[in-house]
Amino acid sequence: MDFTRISGEDVTFFKSVIGEANVLYDAESLEKYSHDETEDLRFPPEVVLKPSSPEEISSILSYCNERSIPVTPRGAGTGLSGGALPVFGGVILSSEKLNRILFIDERNHQVTVEPGVITQVLQDAVREKGLFYPPDPASKGSCFIGGNISENSGGPKAVKYGVVKDYVLNLEMVLPDGEIIWTGANVLKNATGYNLTQLVVGSEGTLGVVTKIVLRLIPHPQHDLLMLVPFKSATQACEAVNAVFQAGIIPSAMEFMERDAIDWAMRFVETNVEVADDVEAHLLIEVDGNDEEVLMKQMEKITDILQQFSIGEILFADTSDQKASLWKLRRSVAEAVKRNSVYKEEDTVVPRAELPALLSGVKSIGKKYGFKSVCYGHVGDGNLHVNVIKGDLSDEDWTEKLPQGIREIFQLCVKLGGTLSGEHGIGWVQKPYMDIAFNATQMKLMQQIKNVFDPNGILNPGKIFH
Ligand code: LAC
Ligand code: ZN
Repeated sequence: MDFTRISGEDVTFFKSVIGEANVLYDAESLEKYSHDETEDLRFPPEVVLKPSSPEEISSILSYCNERSIPVTPRGAGTGLSGGALPVFGGVILSSEKLNRILFIDERNHQVTVEPGVITQVLQDAVREKGLFYPPDPASKGSCFIGGNISENSGGPKAVKYGVVKDYVLNLEMVLPDGEIIWTGANVLKNATGYNLTQLVVGSEGTLGVVTKIVLRLIPHPQHDLLMLVPFKSATQACEAVNAVFQAGIIPSAMEFMERDAIDWAMRFVETNVEVADDVEAHLLIEVDGNDEEVLMKQMEKITDILQQFSIGEILFADTSDQKASLWKLRRSVAEAVKRNSVYKEEDTVVPRAELPALLSGVKSIGKKYGFKSVCYGHVGDGNLHVNVIKGDLSDEDWTEKLPQGIREIFQLCVKLGGTLSGEHGIGWVQKPYMDIAFNATQMKLMQQIKNVFDPNGILNPGKIFH
């Protein structure tokens, strides 16, 4: 793509719009904004802009649009598919100054927020009113709601409560030509024309820059119960997932961790859980609701169902501290893997009952290509994070042969009725595999939609499309 490099004149313009302090181009800032949490990728921007209003963003976008300057919107930089990386340089447009919760509408169970609000901060604020915003990515303590919208994030609660898209009612966004629009209405039902709101959710910052978000909320459940179940066979753990749902129970979390995942996480967060030598995997199962007795019965029923599998002693989290430490373990797996080895993370997803086939397929593809993998994730949703570990693989095998192995994993997902990403997005790293999930016609439709919103291709270029 033919983009314009940023000149001194451009910088002067940006300073005139958002003030000198919000235009950064020192080496340290460029390094800081050159990466997100995706592996070890580095793409430095030419300048980092921190606007404070939709109007400022509008001025920046229309300026860049006229001059073919690439603009990469960025939240907290916790992404796992390289969505916020400025792969063609240009502008990083950070949402960190747009960080206000504008209005908690208790009458309608809705909240209006700016994109730079930390997900956990939003959850805590609505919790104070007895309300619940369920989507809770592992990085909820640091990720921004705007990034969650871009990637259509999920997290453990998605299995019962749905993902980000299920909560977004309406979005204010700035188009590349600077026009500011709302995508829909603040209503729970809407059969009025094309659903622009849902088109933008998960579009990874390629269609416009979201500046306000209206989310629906639900009453906060009063109780939850949590247990950690050790399995002697990882495949059986995946089979057990389906058995629980077949019995008519929908847990509020159903998480899977292979042995290495929990071992590495325990070392990383210095928390200890007794794990017998013969344990291959764990399920972390939570139920929630308002009646504790009903929840106890659900847990009993789940425990009964699990007896048909080869399991060890179940750990029931009795106190809120114990629950918190089990969740901390689970939430730190991604970081623990990152610290442990060079790795590649795939966000595979299949219909839930196909999980055992996916897991054993991943392992046999690993054997064929000589790589080890550590798997964990939201198995209640059929969403398995497959971390391919470099281990003893030579640099050459890692760069030359591994992409073929990953291709086979994605081919297996699609064959099983699944697809490439459940919640991390396509971004920069998964785009070479899009042809496995979509044919030329489907890709063309997506490209045409992109062109309607962003005819000059300045918004987050290099993402999703090859
Ligand atoms: C998790 C992130 C990596 O589930 O999605 O931990
Ligand atoms: Zn996840």
